[in-house]
Amino acid sequence: MITPDGRILFGGDYNPEQWPEEVWADDVRLMKAAGVNSVTLGVFSWAKLEPRPGARDFGWLDRLMDLMHEHGIGVVLATPTASPPPWLGRLHPETLPRDEHGQIVWWGARQQFSHSSLVYRRYAAAITEDLAVRYGHHPALRMWHINNEYCTFDYGDEAARAFRVWLRERYGCLDALNEAWGTAFWSQRVDCWDEVIPPRRAQYLKNPTQLLDFRRFTSDALMECYLAERDLVRRHTPGVIPVTTNFMPLWIGQDAWAWSAQEDVVSVDSYPDPRDPLGGQYNAMIADLTRGQAGGPWLLMEQAAGPVNFRGVNHPKPPGLGRLWTFQAVAHGADGVCYFQWRQSRQGAEKFHSGMVGHAGEEGRTFQEIKRIGRELPALGGTVPGTHTSADIAVLHDWHSWWASGQDGRPSSLVRHEDVLRSWHRALWEAKLPVDFAHPEHDLAAYRMVAVPQLYLLTDAALDNLVSYVRSGGTLVCGFFTGIVDGDDRIRPGGMDARLRELLGIRTVHEWWPLEAEDTVDCVRFRGTLWSEELTAAEDATVVTAYRGGELDGLPAVLRRGSAWYLSTLPEPEALSALLAGAAAEAGVRPPVAELPAGVEAVRRGTVLFLLNHGRRPADVTLPTGTHRDLLTGEVATDSVRLERYGVAALVPHGTGTGSGAAQHV
Ligand code: GAL
Repeated sequence: MITPDGRILFGGDYNPEQWPEEVWADDVRLMKAAGVNSVTLGVFSWAKLEPRPGARDFGWLDRLMDLMHEHGIGVVLATPTASPPPWLGRLHPETLPRDEHGQIVWWGARQQFSHSSLVYRRYAAAITEDLAVRYGHHPALRMWHINNEYCTFDYGDEAARAFRVWLRERYGCLDALNEAWGTAFWSQRVDCWDEVIPPRRAQYLKNPTQLLDFRRFTSDALMECYLAERDLVRRHTPGVIPVTTNFMPLWIGQDAWAWSAQEDVVSVDSYPDPRDPLGGQYNAMIADLTRGQAGGPWLLMEQAAGPVNFRGVNHPKPPGLGRLWTFQAVAHGADGVCYFQWRQSRQGAEKFHSGMVGHAGEEGRTFQEIKRIGRELPALGGTVPGTHTSADIAVLHDWHSWWASGQDGRPSSLVRHEDVLRSWHRALWEAKLPVDFAHPEHDLAAYRMVAVPQLYLLTDAALDNLVSYVRSGGTLVCGFFTGIVDGDDRIRPGGMDARLRELLGIRTVHEWWPLEAEDTVDCVRFRGTLWSEELTAAEDATVVTAYRGGELDGLPAVLRRGSAWYLSTLPEPEALSALLAGAAAEAGVRPPVAELPAGVEAVRRGTVLFLLNHGRRPADVTLPTGTHRDLLTGEVATDSVRLERYGVAALVPHGTGTGSGAAQHV
């Protein structure tokens, strides 16, 4: 449970060790002024807590925990294991990871640990356990935050040893490994376990299944680190304090489906680019994915109050945009909206990254906006937390497929899983259709429509799942380069799995015709991008749209067999949106609000209808029938509501008793 007291969590990463203690009182004053009810402490505090091996300095953290408690601010307490102190690398060089060229990743930044190093794990466990014992029963403690954005790769000897153990468990024997990796190709057969290594720098294209397994292994090895720390903190606070670890948004390195199943609270960091006209769509996609992983409410652990510092050019957020994206996260299921970080640093690599309190101080425009958000959020407390965001469409995504499809040596390096996913999400977002994300083996029965932007790798279980979903009346819309390989990245005969071809009404896939970046392919009614395909339809399939001109003239571009659709190209954005909206309408999917002006998004969460204006101009929205009250302003509206630029409304039916604490808790 993220908010046991029904309040939306609001606050951020607090790094007071960067400041003299005199500043702490001012921090608390400003936190109170901003309505902050949660801070994340200790994320990068290892060197402060353990200045030399085995030493402990908890005094400063004791004082902070007490200070927070005294002022009614809860603490999300982090284990500091994402950034080992320099002494660990100095005394135990084997804890330092190596890149694929064999180069050491030194201390001097952060995350310089080998997930497979037993020494690292031993030190990480020791500091974690001491924290858990010391603060597990502190009244300020609300949540455990394990490590931070697990993301390291290691190709060194520690990883090689652990990789072999992992592979032995997966395959049992070398024959099975050789078979799965297809080592008959290019004389890659391994004859003893010592010949099995991480996919280090090599002369030419590496073995794809070795690469795929190395991704799987890395995700699992990092997860072992997480689980070890999770189990330690749980041992000292059993069943009381929820545990999370924050994901990077749509990060390739972790199988976040598997990870999320091991968390009490699923949390993510989201940093849309304020300059991106589709930043709101990106934010929605990250939220939808995280909600899918959580199976309900989730936590936005980090966002930026203003500019970040990791893009080439780092733009501030125009007035109102930060507030809009914060409420958008809540609309999409977040029960907490937090920031990196509370007070902007004066030193270090992130001194130009904004904070809730920026260098401009409390007079600064950013802090004023933070204060406004902090004032408004409580109006949603009691009604919103714990409730579900509604969606009739599931978008399928799987990390294993991403890992397999994202390698060199394939038909087109321009086809990137994450881009295709984003294009489809964008199309549905622009069609004003809320979506969930789901794993291809999840039970899909609750959805009227399932969209598969691209699942290059599909297991037999996933294929059977799709077939039975369609047989039970579901609508499936499937994108190109799907169902191509099995779980070992072994090609399925016929250019696409036979079950899928039958489902979609494809007789034969003859050739793929990938497109150059600047090229498009003409189809009847729209233009395709990125990819096209030479295929013949089954007799009982319907050709929805054909290619026009060129080598593929007259061949099917989009076809369907009953409620299963296949798109053999990526239609330009508007056309993709129209196609998906058409399939959705046929499947009985209705948008939350019938008519919405451009740029306005509508999302239903529990009893609340959120309206979010992503446009730079005010917009008038015609409301569904009945009278509504805006929880944020208290105003009552009947026919329509005006949203200011980047404006938000959180409407509940007025006069029916709903919306005043009558939340639909799940
Ligand atoms: C996150 C990280 C934070 C901070 C932030 C800056 O990836 O967890 O510690 O670096 O990015 O945007």
